[in-house]
Amino acid sequence: MSYETIQVTPSTPCIGAEISGVNLALPLQERQITELRQVIADYQVIFFRDQALDFDSHQRFGRHFGELMRHSGVAGLKEHPLIVAIHADADSKYVAGENWHSDLTCDAEPPMGSILYLHTVPEVGGDTLFSSMYAAYEALSDRMKAYLEGLTAIHDGEHVYRPITDDPSKRFPCSSHPIVRTHPVTGRRGLFVNRSYTTRINGVSKEESDAILSYLYAHCMNPNFQVRFRWRPHSVAFWDNRCTQHMAVWDYHPQVRSGYRVTVKGEKPA
Ligand code: SIN
Repeated sequence: MSYETIQVTPSTPCIGAEISGVNLALPLQERQITELRQVIADYQVIFFRDQALDFDSHQRFGRHFGELMRHSGVAGLKEHPLIVAIHADADSKYVAGENWHSDLTCDAEPPMGSILYLHTVPEVGGDTLFSSMYAAYEALSDRMKAYLEGLTAIHDGEHVYRPITDDPSKRFPCSSHPIVRTHPVTGRRGLFVNRSYTTRINGVSKEESDAILSYLYAHCMNPNFQVRFRWRPHSVAFWDNRCTQHMAVWDYHPQVRSGYRVTVKGEKPA
């Protein structure tokens, strides 16, 4: 695929690309938007350096890829409810996204993507790992692919968000999704279960479900499917939740890592 308005440097043979030649703080041209839509479909997660996003430009950029949505697990900023703060410092007891996951798969319509802008990062550490669920699916044996065909699994937000909410009346989503998902843009198939939200395969015993899910979770973490993004201040990562998983490495305590995230609405997995 060739691009005219952006420069694209692939990060690994199977996932990720660094994009340059575009200033996300400015309104984008139609051709740039088309190419950025293509490049996220082609690479699953894309990275930008030296961006200076404020709340308006962050949201404007996100809206080129779909409607923005409120996070169903944590509250957005008071004045900007579609923006979630991602922040860790010496007082943090946990950080967002420490375990492998795809965002909010507990939702009936999990997000298409998430766009994270970090303005402050530790000098070293605080990387984010991304894994390609296309690569994970394609590497399964034909027998395992046949076994998974048509199976669905439960994705629950309760155990993820209950420990970090102080509102006992709040209810968190729980949904059932196909284990193998077809991407609505590329038509490629990918695994769609993750250690954070997926609790149970429907229609098989708990023992069988536990065994298959632990095999799949370990399989998804194969380094051959991954890219590891090393943040610098004012970098942006934009990942497609429909074909990737990610985890944030918290190896920098007590240092500060801080920024903002918007979430782009998705569709019911098919
Ligand atoms: C997240 O899971 O959204 C957080 C990712 C990160 O902080 O790198």
